[in-house]
Amino acid sequence: MDWGMNNRMSQLIQPDGHCFFLPIDHGYFQGPTSRLEKPGETIKPLLPYCDALFVTRGVLRAAVDPAGGKPIILRVSGGSSVVGKDLANESLTTSIEEIIRLNATAVGMSVFVGSDYEKESLTNLSELVNQCEDFGIPVMAVTAVGKELEKRDARYLALCCRIAAELGARVVKTYWCKDFDKVVYGCPVPVVMAGGPRCDTELEVIEFVHDGMQNGAVGLNLGRNVWQSPHPVAIMQALRAVIHENHTVKEAWELFNSVKQGK
Ligand code: 5RP
Repeated sequence: MDWGMNNRMSQLIQPDGHCFFLPIDHGYFQGPTSRLEKPGETIKPLLPYCDALFVTRGVLRAAVDPAGGKPIILRVSGGSSVVGKDLANESLTTSIEEIIRLNATAVGMSVFVGSDYEKESLTNLSELVNQCEDFGIPVMAVTAVGKELEKRDARYLALCCRIAAELGARVVKTYWCKDFDKVVYGCPVPVVMAGGPRCDTELEVIEFVHDGMQNGAVGLNLGRNVWQSPHPVAIMQALRAVIHENHTVKEAWELFNSVKQGK
């Protein structure tokens, strides 16, 4: 691997081999998502505990301090919305010049395997990889399902992750699911877990993150289950301890409760 690519990958995946990304890109198709109306305020107390931010260029410029020191994974796909016909109908939104101008450490885009726009999203991924590899910039593929959340089983997600890796993604982000080891097993690049809609309790979040890490995920890219929690700093710290300090569910839950109670 070339030095530049290696350097960027090591900013994302920490020396322990794990990573915790904080995504705040949801507005690109959802508009002012609950608790992310003012992204700069949402992330302020959380930034110390994340390894990188996943964000669009618009929110990056408007709400993220350029001297903040966190690596940026730039969301570079879009063009559809929750009120439109099909969330899968995305294009690449950001030129390679803009990616370089913004000093992105990596870029991320969604692929919609099995959708009406499968071919477009997969060839967009290939095109992005072609552009970014020339400059040593890693591409993170996001296996997306749009509104069809029931698609998220191990067989389907394993298929999506493998295809994304075959097309050149350096990292793949996919949903956690039961039998997560089957998703990771056939994917030759690091797999990061995404969250999905909010769980009922923080304990459930800690449990699924712990399960994913035990089953081969290198880390986490978790948004709503962090910043929509009534205790975002506490859950962020507890999850960080699972990812980087090998905490058990019990230890992480205790940490969550002690941070929540201000101990
Ligand atoms: C949506 C994304 C998010 O980065 C991803 O879904 C993680 O966020 P959440 O944990 O809220 O699902 O790609 O655009």
